[in-house]
Amino acid sequence: MTDKTYIITGALGCIGAWSMHHLIKRGERVVSFDVGDSSHRLDLLLTPEEQKHIIFVKADLSDAAQVLAAFKKHRITHVLHLAALQVPFCRADPVRGAQVNVVGTVNIFEAARQSNIAHIAYASSIAVYGPPSDYPPGAIQHDALPAPRTIYGVYKQANEGTGRIYWQDHQISSTALRPHTVYGIGRDQGLTSDPTKAMLAAALGKPFQLNFNSPVQLQWASDVALQFIAAAEQPLAGAYAFNLGGQAYGAAQIIDMIRLIKPAAQLTFVERTLPFPESTADSALRQHFQTIYATPIEEGVAQTIQHFERFSHDERLQKVING
Ligand SMILES: NC(=O)c1ccc[n+]([C@@H]2O[C@H](COP(=O)([O-])OP(=O)(O)OC[C@H]3O[C@@H](n4cnc5c(N)ncnc54)[C@H](O)[C@@H]3O)[C@@H](O)[C@H]2O)c1
Repeated sequence: MTDKTYIITGALGCIGAWSMHHLIKRGERVVSFDVGDSSHRLDLLLTPEEQKHIIFVKADLSDAAQVLAAFKKHRITHVLHLAALQVPFCRADPVRGAQVNVVGTVNIFEAARQSNIAHIAYASSIAVYGPPSDYPPGAIQHDALPAPRTIYGVYKQANEGTGRIYWQDHQISSTALRPHTVYGIGRDQGLTSDPTKAMLAAALGKPFQLNFNSPVQLQWASDVALQFIAAAEQPLAGAYAFNLGGQAYGAAQIIDMIRLIKPAAQLTFVERTLPFPESTADSALRQHFQTIYATPIEEGVAQTIQHFERFSHDERLQKVING
């Protein structure tokens, strides 16, 4: 019997569900902490039998008492803090966005401090950076100056500051990972969810238009979850924030990749640039972690489309495309 217990905030979200998938398959004790109660992503990744091993806590990250209670009750040892409101939701309600994304992250560090937990892994984002015009040509290095263009990015930058101060004042170490554009099963919301929605549409034989065409680094949700698990299990002495790597692809290339699997896919895109970098460098991550999870894009796309096809009867997937 393991003495480790993982808490995953935002566990019912895309990266959270994949993190539970990997940890439950490994036989770990896992606490899902999420304000939502829809299992629509998890149902694509774990059977009802496997889900019985998860301890579900329906609670609000922005409430410090609820966070601390979950840490204490379940004797948490490992933290993957993923819950957040994504770009469109922060833009629509910046106050709630700050409560969840900023105060919620302070609540996690506080709960860790009060539970004698020495290390946290949490999700930051490439949204801490500005667009390519802010930086020299090439991939943006992990220590390049933040220059967020969204309120969501401002909140992520604040969280990295919180991490630094908890190391300075309380010696709680933290590792933030900054994904770019996560794709795969469960990626159904957020500004950059369209590449996955295009894969889903192709699997279901439906037309779809991507809402941007600036290049994005596509990172498979399964890989990103494994990297978060490694970040939670391997404390580093300090407060670190790492970019994840990968090649950047524009909408036309993404469509070409999908058509390798589904030649008849009815996919188009609009000319629109995202307020984010196109490419970030993962050299610092590679210096600190032995294993970098980076499944080749062709394989990740193929697996995602095949996985969607297996669940094509699920009405909840139809709704993702129809909005
Ligand atoms: N998906 C990406 O491409 C991407 C890119 C960069 C950073 N990130 C970051 O990675 C993390 C996970 O992303 P995702 O794509 O899995 O997100 P998601 O939107 O799929 O899931 C977020 C989850 O957080 C939960 N949540 C929201 N408010 C909460 C609250 N008050 N209390 C508890 N739970 C709450 C939601 O119910 C949801 O299940 C986020 O912090 C996100 O900002 C994601």
